[in-house]
Amino acid sequence: MPMAAILLLFLTLFSISKADRDFDVRQHLSTVTRYGAVKDIVDNSFIPSDIPQGCAPIHLNLVMHGRSWVSIVQCFQLLAYWISLRFAAVIFCAKHSSFEIACYSLNCLLGLIILLEISSVARHGTRSPTKKRVREMEKLASHIKELIEDAKQRNLSLQKVPAWFHNWESPWKGKLKGGELDIKGEEELYQLGIRVRERFPDIFNEEYHPDVYPVKTTQIPRASASAVAFGMGLFSGKGSLGPGRHRAFAVTSESRASDTILRFFECCQTYKDFRKNQEPSFNKLKEPILTEITSALAKRYEFNFTGQDISSLWFLCKQESSLLDITDQACSLFSPTEVALLEWTDDIQMFMVKGYGKSLNYRMGVPLLKDVLQSMSEAINADEDNQLPGSYEKARLRFAHAETVVPFSCLLGLFLEGSDFERIQKEEPLDLPPKPPQKRNWRGSIVAPFAGNNMLVLYSCPANSSSKYFVQVLHNEHPIPMPGCGSTDFCPFQVFKDKIVEPHFVHDYDTLCNAHLEESKHKPETSKLSQLFRWIFRLGGNDDTPSHGVEL
Ligand SMILES: *[C@@H]1O[C@H](CO)[C@@H](O)[C@H](O)[C@H]1NC(C)=O
Ligand SMILES: *[C@@H]1O[C@H](CO)[C@@H](O)[C@H](O)[C@H]1NC(C)=O
Ligand SMILES: *[C@@H]1O[C@H](CO)[C@@H](O)[C@H](O)[C@H]1NC(C)=O
Repeated sequence: MPMAAILLLFLTLFSISKADRDFDVRQHLSTVTRYGAVKDIVDNSFIPSDIPQGCAPIHLNLVMHGRSWVSIVQCFQLLAYWISLRFAAVIFCAKHSSFEIACYSLNCLLGLIILLEISSVARHGTRSPTKKRVREMEKLASHIKELIEDAKQRNLSLQKVPAWFHNWESPWKGKLKGGELDIKGEEELYQLGIRVRERFPDIFNEEYHPDVYPVKTTQIPRASASAVAFGMGLFSGKGSLGPGRHRAFAVTSESRASDTILRFFECCQTYKDFRKNQEPSFNKLKEPILTEITSALAKRYEFNFTGQDISSLWFLCKQESSLLDITDQACSLFSPTEVALLEWTDDIQMFMVKGYGKSLNYRMGVPLLKDVLQSMSEAINADEDNQLPGSYEKARLRFAHAETVVPFSCLLGLFLEGSDFERIQKEEPLDLPPKPPQKRNWRGSIVAPFAGNNMLVLYSCPANSSSKYFVQVLHNEHPIPMPGCGSTDFCPFQVFKDKIVEPHFVHDYDTLCNAHLEESKHKPETSKLSQLFRWIFRLGGNDDTPSHGVEL
């Protein structure tokens, strides 16, 4: 009897530790997840279609979320540049007092330059949150130091406090000039480019031409760098440059102020207002979870954490894990259950401000959807007219942001639960994705990890009498069911168009996004000065990630 009890105990212990061992925190970091950590996670209950014999892919649409990296270097360079200009001006003016008016204007001009520059440079998505986050990390480091000092003075035992706490400094301290381009992220994109070419030899068999394989990105450096890394893989071996026989290829962007295809969220005033107003309701959802985890950790490590510490430590965990490949520091403070809850709060935020939480989030992506449909229609025309190879487009490759890829996935109706698709059609609001331990389809780490992507492959099936063209959707390279097409991944083009795409076209981007502006026109007397300032700031475009965004 005692023997059996011991055995049972042993088995329980073993099974717990196995479950913990199977838990890989790198797969639970919401949109900060690295592509390689999740790309092969698939829903095993879904069986992808067999592509019928005689069907050939003729066109590819790619929409990708570019890599992110820690880069605040430009901002500092700019500041240094401006300070030196300003300094030179001050010296000049001090020496030549007769140029008073000129000096005054010069100073004003320089002031204006910095205003304009900062408002455009600070919009690289990662930039301002990064600066804020860097400060947050330094605060965390100093708070940990304080707590340790305090405990020492009061002769409290520090035995349970993790050893790394004692000498921890923010990893970004003093690294402000590094700009840390994410080398591993580049490698992932490069390899992805090679895999895509190998998977669709019929599409990438043509001589490179910018009209055959247009590569489009937003005017954001990390998106265009992603496009370059991907393209270097995709077109490697096709040119004559260097040992990799690379080929120069064009990467084009729309001006950010008018890029309604890839940066629709930036030009949409209604959306920006909505997003700002979401913060309180999101915080209300997040708070009980944070409080619970804070007290659990305070007890476990006998350390007086605050809620802010826990929030910063979770942020640190995500960054350490995905950028620095460290999982045994901040991440190891949390149990798998706690990680799952924190991950859920991030996913909920993404749901509310980028996903199905509000129809505006994805409806403003209609211009992108139109662009995708148009490229398919053109490819079909080219196929039917038997146009000469090399004279028509075979792939349209787009590199943008989580704010682009997430709404696009929603427009296609991906990652919905049960009858959600019907509810959307009836314009009924959706419930929040279920809280762990319940399972959910809406997971940031799968929907939009770094380099997360949707590929829409157009197939020509001349042998089929009912439909000559089909669309297959691949999410992160795996076929994914479309609820709008009977939950298959291989959808007759006409059904795809009628059931999934065109219903969205009743919504017009300008009406959705600028209704607010119409309203404010009727408001009496807005201050002219504040309008001027708003105008100046708008000129420089706007942030895709307000400072509270989950991304770095
Ligand atoms: C802490 O311990 C040291 C010796 O171990 C003792 O001298 C000191 O008075 C103690 N301080 C407090 C606040 O108890
Ligand atoms: C935490 O703070 C409380 C009140 O501020 C204090 O009584 C307690 O001793 C502290 N515990 C530790 C481990 O520092
Ligand atoms: C043609 O397509 C339909 C779907 O539209 C499919 O059910 C049918 O099996 C296909 N026929 C052939 C011969 O592939």
